[in-house]
Amino acid sequence: MSIISPATLAAPAHNGIQSSNFPVATPAVPDDTRRHQARFDAQPPSNPPDKVYGMKHIHRYYSPNDLYNKIIDGLDRIGKDLSNITLDDLQPVDEFHIRGDTATKELIKLANFTPDMHIIDVGCGVGGSTRRLSHVTGCRVTGIDLSDEYIDAAERLTRLLNMQEQVQFHAASALALPFADDTFDGAWSIQMNMNVEDKLGWLRELHRVIKPGSRAVLYEVCGHTNTPVYFPVPWAQDSSMSFLVPPAAFRDVITAAGFDISVWNDKTDLAQQAFAHMTEPKGEPNLPELGVHLLVGDDILTKAYNLHRNLDDNRVSLIETVGVKPISAQAPRS
Ligand SMILES: C[S@@+](CC[C@H](N)C(=O)[O-])C[C@H]1O[C@@H](n2cnc3c(N)ncnc32)[C@H](O)[C@@H]1O
Repeated sequence: MSIISPATLAAPAHNGIQSSNFPVATPAVPDDTRRHQARFDAQPPSNPPDKVYGMKHIHRYYSPNDLYNKIIDGLDRIGKDLSNITLDDLQPVDEFHIRGDTATKELIKLANFTPDMHIIDVGCGVGGSTRRLSHVTGCRVTGIDLSDEYIDAAERLTRLLNMQEQVQFHAASALALPFADDTFDGAWSIQMNMNVEDKLGWLRELHRVIKPGSRAVLYEVCGHTNTPVYFPVPWAQDSSMSFLVPPAAFRDVITAAGFDISVWNDKTDLAQQAFAHMTEPKGEPNLPELGVHLLVGDDILTKAYNLHRNLDDNRVSLIETVGVKPISAQAPRS
């Protein structure tokens, strides 16, 4: 969710949302051959997860039809050359978290991952931060997400950027990661926990699949001192999809899963600033050609406005943290 706008939940000014102006399409239409190729020169969709573990409504929420072609159409309408798409071109739609690519770049510095590493991105969405992490650090990244429609788009966008050697995706649940113990050199998970009721189960899985001594970088929306949360919000249409816990409880569950916490930063003030411009939407939404409304619906302005209210009323907070799996660790037993 770039937060800031429907385009990237609260993203930096360069995507045009913070300034409350949506990007304006410029009339440069790429030739039909390139457009055709971008649409069809792609892998078939991956298989959906066998089980969504009682999360069908969450799976449904993140399952827009024909997402990849909608993104391609959006790029086309704003005049992007489909034969030469960049990470930044996709940023308005593929970095679906508060503060968009600005936050991703901060997290990359914090993570300190190196080119020899293989990292898992849990709840990767359509893979914007997955690709950026690999592009900036040189590491290999495997993303998983509950939504097979997002994973299909993630794979095809990655091929469009010719990054498929370094960045791969699987449709899977964070609660049942399809990887052996101690597979990865680090983990990364951005704004997924809000949809996960069993936080201990998720974090134990994360702990299980990374090697002892490696780091898990989390950037997560938590509850705060006040309740209830105003809905809808970018991650949930209603309370049946949202499982926020206050920061202290989130910290406790990270520790209970077996991690030592090495970094703990409260970023709520930056999230408040990013959404400060949001006003109550009225009438038909004026949406950009390319934005996160393609991922979660045309009521994104209402969702972003409610996120602004929730932040300002101390109903939600934003936490950036790094957990380390101790060298001596064994996967905790349930
Ligand atoms: C707000 S989006 C963030 C996506 C991505 N991390 C990003 O920053 O662009 C939340 C994502 O979590 C995924 N998700 C929710 N519950 C999940 C689960 N139990 N297992 C795996 N993915 C899940 C959703 O499908 C969605 O893609």
